[in-house]
Amino acid sequence: MAKHRLRYVPKGVPTEFDLRVMELERKGAHVPTRELIKTPEQIEGIRRAGVVNTGVLDTVEQEIHAGMSTLEIDKICREYCADHGATPACLGYGGFPMSVCTSINEVVCHGIPKSKDILREGDIINVDFTTILDGYYADASRMFIIGETTPAKERLVRVTKECLEIGLKAARPWCDVNDIGRAIEPYAHEHGYGVVRDLTGHGVGCQFHEDPEVCHFAQRRRGMILVPGMVFTIEPMINMGTWKVFIDADDPFGWEVITGDLKPSAQWEHTFVMTEDGPEVLTH
Ligand code: MF3
Ligand code: CO
Ligand code: CO
Repeated sequence: MAKHRLRYVPKGVPTEFDLRVMELERKGAHVPTRELIKTPEQIEGIRRAGVVNTGVLDTVEQEIHAGMSTLEIDKICREYCADHGATPACLGYGGFPMSVCTSINEVVCHGIPKSKDILREGDIINVDFTTILDGYYADASRMFIIGETTPAKERLVRVTKECLEIGLKAARPWCDVNDIGRAIEPYAHEHGYGVVRDLTGHGVGCQFHEDPEVCHFAQRRRGMILVPGMVFTIEPMINMGTWKVFIDADDPFGWEVITGDLKPSAQWEHTFVMTEDGPEVLTH
């Protein structure tokens, strides 16, 4: 007999919920595996990791200022995390050398904290931190404006936050994950911005990066169904100019992503759990 090729395999006698997923799969929808649907206990664990992660970013928010180095931001994050019995997911991940990503101006994401990178008045910086607590992951990032910046950079930061909120509104239970990018992209384009395509949001919770990929641009093809119980990020990277990005040749670690035209980029990120009523943010 042929091995069955269905992704969704219920555990024991199928529940109403299982039957709904199985029916969608039978009709050709791309459904998650059962492992991607978190148990209430797992969701509680991710929620607790989210509380620590929010504490990390709140502490950065209180302490960030012109004249400090991004290495000092790394220290703040590392210490807060350790004081709360948690560990930074970034440290050692794929060879990433630090505990947090600090991405200034034209750095799109994965900026590496350094003693020589001193924050200056007018800089915009994304601080992206992921906490592991009791084996559960929560991932979020915020933008900070150092002192006063130009109206153009201020607008980029605000509109990017709105892109996250728009993506969040588009994420409905049982919808197509690609509906998120279909909502975000036109809004970013209205402002003349580029939407990064090479990096995406992702499932999260039991590992750092799980399925599905969450595109912030408009995919034509259908993606995975967002079934209640799934935990994932939305984290649009929005560029003032071109959507194209590349790895900074000067980064010996090969991590830092910069814009193709060296114009500024912004990003905001939250971790959510999808519920029957819509997404619930676990990182604020
Ligand atoms: N936190 C990033 C994300 O949102 C991933 C950083 S990976 C690292 O998915 F290795 F650069 F830390
Ligand atoms: Co993420
Ligand atoms: Co992140």
